[in-house]
Amino acid sequence: MKSVIVIGASGYGKVVADLIQKSNDRVVGFLDDQADLADTFIGYPLLGLVKDYSNYKDTAEFVIAIGNQGIREKIAARLWDVRWYTAIHPSAVRSDIQVRVGEGTVIMANAVINSACQIGRHCIINSGAVVEHDNQIADFVHVSVGAKLAGTVSVGKASWIGVGATVSNNLTICSNCIIGAGAVVVDDIKEAGTYVGVPAKKMEKTEMKKEINVRGGG
Ligand SMILES: CC(C)(COP(=O)(O)OP(=O)(O)OC[C@H]1O[C@@H](n2cnc3c(N)ncnc32)[C@H](O)[C@@H]1OP(=O)(O)O)[C@@H](O)C(=O)NCCC(=O)NCCS
Repeated sequence: MKSVIVIGASGYGKVVADLIQKSNDRVVGFLDDQADLADTFIGYPLLGLVKDYSNYKDTAEFVIAIGNQGIREKIAARLWDVRWYTAIHPSAVRSDIQVRVGEGTVIMANAVINSACQIGRHCIINSGAVVEHDNQIADFVHVSVGAKLAGTVSVGKASWIGVGATVSNNLTICSNCIIGAGAVVVDDIKEAGTYVGVPAKKMEKTEMKKEINVRGGG
C-alpha cells in the first residue's frame, strides 16, 4: 500500500482521493495554498501549504490534483525531489500492448487507453475519455470527461481537450491549445489557441484562457 499526498483541495482533489482509495492505497492528506481552508478536507487532514511538502517527501508519494495545466507544470518543476504517484482507476481499460503512462498522470474511471499509446507526465485522462491506439499525448495534457481521440492522434504539451470533444484520426494538435467542449477536430491544429465548434475553428476574440478551471479538473 502506498501513502499518497494530494496537492489541491478541490473538486478534482475529491475525485483523485476516491481513486487512490479505490486503488487500495492510502490518502495521507492534502496540501493547498488557499489560506482560508479548514483543518480537514473531505475527512482528510489538510497538512499545510504546498511548500510544506518537504516534511512528507521521504514517507509519501505525491499527486497534483489541479486542473490547470500551467499550475501543474509549475508545481511539478518546483517539487523536483519527490516521488510522483501515478493514479489509474481500477475501472480504466489500459491495453497491455506498448502503453506507457508517465509519472504523476491520473487516469480516471472508465477511461480507455488503447494499444501503443504514449501518455506523458502529469496528464489527466478524465472519466470516460477514450484515447485510441497509437496516440502520443505530451506532458501536462488534460483529456476531459468523455472526450474521444481516434487512432494515431498527437497532442502537444499542456493542451486541454474539452468535455465531450472529438479528435478525428491521424491528426496533430500542437502545444498550449484549448479544444472547447463538444468540438470536433478534423484538421491538424498548428497554432496555439482556443478552438470550438463542428468542425473546430479558432476563436479569434480571446487569448488563451488558462485561468479557466484553475481549481477544478472535472
Ligand atoms: C472554449 C472555452 C474555453 C471558451 O471559454 P471562454 O473563452 O470563456 O468563452 P465564452 O464563454 O466567453 O464564449 C465566447 C463565445 O464562444 C462560444 N463558445 C464558448 N464555448 C464554446 C464551445 N465549446 N463550443 C461552441 N461555442 C462556444 C460562446 O457561446 C460565445 O459565443 P458568442 O460570443 O456568440 O456569445 C469554454 O467554453 C469551454 O468549452 N471550456 C471547456 C470546459 C471543459 O471541458 N471543462 C472540463 C470538464 S472535465
